[in-house]
Amino acid sequence: TRYFALIPAAGIGARVGAGCPKQYLPLAGKAMLLHVLETFAAAPAIAHCFLVVSAGDAYIDEVLASAPQLRTRVTVLLNGGATRHASVSNGLQAMRAQVEDADWVLVHDAARPGLTVALIDKLIAELRDDPVGGLLALPVVDTLKRGNANGRVAATVPRAGLWGAQTPQMFRYALLRRALEEVAEVTDEASAIEALGLAPRLVEGSVRNFKVTLPQDIPLAELLLKGLS
Ligand code: CTP
Ligand code: MG
Repeated sequence: TRYFALIPAAGIGARVGAGCPKQYLPLAGKAMLLHVLETFAAAPAIAHCFLVVSAGDAYIDEVLASAPQLRTRVTVLLNGGATRHASVSNGLQAMRAQVEDADWVLVHDAARPGLTVALIDKLIAELRDDPVGGLLALPVVDTLKRGNANGRVAATVPRAGLWGAQTPQMFRYALLRRALEEVAEVTDEASAIEALGLAPRLVEGSVRNFKVTLPQDIPLAELLLKGLS
């Protein structure tokens, strides 16, 4: 069995609201997406990387032209969908000829540039013999409040046992493809697997693997990535 990366990068980054989709914003000298691709390319366990972008993507060619060393490590799929779920499903469909049912697929957001080879290795080491698969996640540290319509606290939600889901989320190809095709819209792969009655494993991730979502996340990501080099 091999390990493949599948990176959904067909979003528009509406909440960051920059002049281009957030995955193409420069961070510490290179596009956010390039940080992610280079990390997977540098991980010896990863056989190959599949990248899903929108059919009309105006940026990807230039980004890849700036990184010729990635040419043999990355296949670009131009069939991104209207949602992350659709983009991942479409990507799995497009890579079918190059993957076997029992191969592992690590699905990772293009918007998490802080991923490291060490985190990839940790996830694989903990899940390679697992019958289901799993995901990087972080135990919730803040006290949780449920708010009401008036902006007041309705309840304090017990935090014990709660985790924030990250990516990569790692499942076997055939299982993941079936799960995403059978379930209604989900926001991560684990949710689709859960809907089949299976329980994905939680593997502790890192705050540095946070998702760039809002404008104020950009300088934070840049700081993290500069700290690396
Ligand atoms: N994504 C995708 N296809 C979509 C929507 C999202 O491939 N139709 C990808 C994004 O490119 C990103 C990941 O899924 O790498 C996580 O999604 P999110 O953080 O929500 O990114 P966007 O959808 O681009 O941002 P926003 O929701 O603010 O528009
Ligand atoms: Mg989105």
